[in-house]
Amino acid sequence: MTSTDLMEAARTVRENAHAPYSNFKVGAAIRGKSGKVYVGCNVENVAYPQGTCAEAGAIAAMVAAGETEIAEIAVIAGSPEPVSCCGGCRQKIAEFAAGDVVVSMGTTGGNTMTATVAELLPGAFDQSYMGGSK
Ligand code: THU
Repeated sequence: MTSTDLMEAARTVRENAHAPYSNFKVGAAIRGKSGKVYVGCNVENVAYPQGTCAEAGAIAAMVAAGETEIAEIAVIAGSPEPVSCCGGCRQKIAEFAAGDVVVSMGTTGGNTMTATVAELLPGAFDQSYMGGSK
């Protein structure tokens, strides 16, 4: 699957987003190291903080399938500019992706930009910081 195909998978799952409160539908697709693709969409809730992002859904699907290494990720929304993954999702992605993994961010209109995980989350908190914790 190419990066374009991955964005198309994100575009397709975006249609299933449950976003009645923001009306902002987001789709995400992850290609795992195995080559398999996992998709997710945002799922909002009337108790707003309980809503989940598209990236979180795709990560959950990947982990549930027994895979824990992200090779590539694509995220799409109906925004004028390529959607920027929220801070929480950057940390969630960093849990399963090396710093050089490419994140493609797209609009339904066809605008795309890419960044690496390290660019999206410089100075990420990781397990190395927990070495001396008591
Ligand atoms: N959203 C995502 O799904 N991913 C992001 O990275 C940015 C925000 C969702 C959350 C909420 O359902 C809607 O977009 C508006 O914030």
